[in-house]
Amino acid sequence: MKILLTGASGQLGQDLQRRFALENAEIIALERQKLDITQPQAVRDAIAHHHPDILINAGAYTAVDQAESEADLAYTANATAPKILAEAAAEGNLTFVHISTDYVFDGKQSTPYRETDPTHPIGIYGKSKRDGEIAIAQVAQTRDLRYFILRTAWVYGSYGKGNFVKTMLRLGAQREELKVVADQIGTPTWTYDLADAIAQLLMTPDWTNGIYHFTNSGATSWYDFAIAIFEEAQALKMPLAIQNVVPITTPEYPTPAQRPAYSVLSHQKIRPFLASPPPQWRVSLRQMLAQLS
Ligand SMILES: NC(=O)c1ccc[n+]([C@@H]2O[C@H](COP(=O)([O-])OP(=O)(O)OC[C@H]3O[C@@H](n4cnc5c(N)ncnc54)[C@H](OP(=O)(O)O)[C@@H]3O)[C@@H](O)[C@H]2O)c1
Repeated sequence: MKILLTGASGQLGQDLQRRFALENAEIIALERQKLDITQPQAVRDAIAHHHPDILINAGAYTAVDQAESEADLAYTANATAPKILAEAAAEGNLTFVHISTDYVFDGKQSTPYRETDPTHPIGIYGKSKRDGEIAIAQVAQTRDLRYFILRTAWVYGSYGKGNFVKTMLRLGAQREELKVVADQIGTPTWTYDLADAIAQLLMTPDWTNGIYHFTNSGATSWYDFAIAIFEEAQALKMPLAIQNVVPITTPEYPTPAQRPAYSVLSHQKIRPFLASPPPQWRVSLRQMLAQLS
């Protein structure tokens, strides 16, 4: 198994490298500087040069709020690039793996979203990611392409740039009080568990083309997630000044992008392909923090 990994320096990209190091897999990990996924010729050249069997795209434009004022950049990375990658994968007869988001939903549902539920993104980031999903499916309709798209949510990892866990640790070390939104519900997901799910799905022969949902198990609010981060960090004796976390509502914390109020994803479709149910989000948070500290 030879894998070409794009967006390799992102938080998921780095955990994919760690996870596939455990398999008998050769992984060619290319960060943006080595391969810009928005450049069709560069993508084709990389495939021709490395001859992989599998193409995993961990590259994306992920700045949810910034996307509202940089729509072109978001659409190029999240909608145009997946089409380029899917076409190149079809051309080279590669299996293609792509990642999408819970933000393709509007959050009006109150039970876990299934893959077949209608999408209705409410921000540019979600819209651009949804367009990427559609573009891949369209390539697969006209070309012979073996692919899956894993939708996930509230991603954090030890590596890469920032995420909610690292932001809370930084602010919690500096401030005694923090206000955190308590009326958005979702599932924090550790990049290592996500990488593991991708590896497991890829190594089962009987998956079919399409979208799968994967997150850690359970559901929480950003407020309760923050409390859990501080409790677990305290148990690990990480430096903290925080005394008080105040729950607030979404309107009390206005952001450029709207976010779904509820975006828990159902595991029903992916579960048969996994050796065990996805780990509980808090168990994985504990593991990630132990790794960080
Ligand atoms: N983060 C979340 O909460 C979340 C939630 C749901 C789904 N997802 C999805 O999960 C996947 C992985 O996300 P992540 O959190 O690991 O993101 P991340 O840490 O922001 O990593 C994304 C990577 O993509 C790279 N990239 C951006 N534009 C590129 C281009 N044109 N060519 C090549 N590489 C490019 C970035 O490079 P630079 O750093 O150089 O820009 C970065 O290394 C993405 O598909 C994302 O949409 C994320």
